[in-house]
Amino acid sequence: MIRDVSSGIYHLLHPKMTFFLTSVDRKGTPNVMTCAWATPVSDEPPMILVCVSKESHTAALIRQTKEFVVNIPSKKLLPALWICGRHSGREVDKFTKARLKTSPGRNVSVPVVGDCIGYIECSLWKSVHAGECYVFFGRVRSAYADDRFFKNDAWTANAAIPLHLGGSKIVYFR
Ligand SMILES: Cc1cc2nc3c(=O)[nH]c(=O)nc-3n(C[C@H](O)[C@H](O)[C@H](O)COP(=O)(O)O)c2cc1C
Repeated sequence: MIRDVSSGIYHLLHPKMTFFLTSVDRKGTPNVMTCAWATPVSDEPPMILVCVSKESHTAALIRQTKEFVVNIPSKKLLPALWICGRHSGREVDKFTKARLKTSPGRNVSVPVVGDCIGYIECSLWKSVHAGECYVFFGRVRSAYADDRFFKNDAWTANAAIPLHLGGSKIVYFR
């Protein structure tokens, strides 16, 4: 039976890869949040978008310094994904709380999250108001991945990337 699901439309478009979105303020203090709403939008030039709640600390930082990084985790970082998705950087240092290490970005001033298996560093090209979110379009400045998990332009099953189904449900790509 086909049922009406208009109260949960976005669930129809999940599962989605779930990642850490890092950003930084003008003084260089970084923040990290969990994010699932993202997609490539152009290959030439390479561009992606991320949808970020207007209420989040991350949105304020991306608007301030105009850079962000998508950090793709593997399964072992799942506890940190929940911490970074349930607390705001306005109240807590999530890198400490979630025991996440950072390293400098290669081509942006935003740090990357250690132990991730892929990274997309972006500078902000454009932002669009969309309901409760900003849609941030990023020009890709560099992208790199761990070749134990990314081979021939594709993630391998052993990457075990977390996929968000919505709410508190996550499954793994395998
Ligand atoms: C699995 C998961 C996926 C999430 N995806 C998004 C998302 O795509 N966009 C968004 O704005 N918030 C998303 N969130 C919620 C943010 O991570 C959350 O509001 C966070 O506390 C914001 O942190 P900040 O205030 O430090 O930026 C997600 C949370 C979880 C647990």
